[in-house]
Amino acid sequence: MGSPAIRDSTVLVTGGAGFVGSHLVDALLPHNEVRVLDDFSSGRREYVPDDATVIEGDVGDEDVLARAMDDVDLVFHQAAIVSVTESVDDPQRSHETNLEASLELLERARREDARVVVASSAAIYGHPDELPVTESASMDPTSPYGIQKLALDQYARLYADLYDLATVTLRYFNVYGPRQQGPYSGVISMFLDQARAGEPITVEGDGSQTRDFVHVSDVVRANLRAATTETVGRAYNVGTGERTAIRTLAETVRNVVDSSSPIVHRDPRPGDVRHSRADVSKARRELDFEARVRLETGLRALANETELAASTDSTGLVADRTPDGS
Ligand code: UD1
Repeated sequence: MGSPAIRDSTVLVTGGAGFVGSHLVDALLPHNEVRVLDDFSSGRREYVPDDATVIEGDVGDEDVLARAMDDVDLVFHQAAIVSVTESVDDPQRSHETNLEASLELLERARREDARVVVASSAAIYGHPDELPVTESASMDPTSPYGIQKLALDQYARLYADLYDLATVTLRYFNVYGPRQQGPYSGVISMFLDQARAGEPITVEGDGSQTRDFVHVSDVVRANLRAATTETVGRAYNVGTGERTAIRTLAETVRNVVDSSSPIVHRDPRPGDVRHSRADVSKARRELDFEARVRLETGLRALANETELAASTDSTGLVADRTPDGS
């Protein structure tokens, strides 16, 4: 099942040098003029292909944003301070980047009449009442980051309702894959680094807490669907619908890397969400999107540094392809 291709468009990816953004740029580049707006605070220059136009600067800088959005058709808004811990340490700073800058971006999109695909987060749900979590679940974020994403998520809906702006919001669950790095990069990259180095794999708590891990290539495909869907003004969970216990993850990573690292348990993380799993039926129904990469397949590719797309067509690392390869 193919999706309408995005072609001959001027596309802006904010945070386009970052983890999710740079994979999105790879998928868009062959057929579009792609701009990357990034301040390289966590993104990396080497992740951005030469064919993309780089605008270096802060998404919160109005002049920079104006330049990046001039005459743009489509925006994938990935730029954010993604560290929950940083948002707890300095709520005002993350508020500026994650919310104020995003509101300015929506305003500019209104003027340009550009579609905006917004990166939201499962963090908006806080501790879910019921699993799997549907898009209409209660929302009680437990961090400033979660509040900022919730406000952005709601603004995106409101801009569609009030101003007829074509917005689509994607609520990412636990994304993993190549180019995820840094101190707040997520449990999978931590475990892989530890297993590779032969160091202890550190499970926080008893490891029975669960997460819905979704591969970045699937997140890219969800974004591409969101860019062409007719169902605008709505929000969709982006996950697999499966859950994995952290202790099981530690064992799988150890096997995949063929490591003899011991698995050790530390104190649980204060306020940690016990269980998280996306209900993916809305995305399946309305976006025709379904995650394809099984966790073990994704972990193996990551551990061996192999490209999923090279080993199998069905993983869609780059994008959905129509039969003629376009
Ligand atoms: C993730 C997102 C966060 C988002 C939230 C929404 C990442 C990096 N973070 O947080 O942006 O707000 O989902 O639900 O994707 N753990 C260990 N050992 C480690 C590291 C982590 O046992 O070395 C455990 C944690 O205690 C936690 C689980 O692994 O129970 C997942 O942690 P993490 O990858 O940081 O993601 P979330 O906390 O789910």
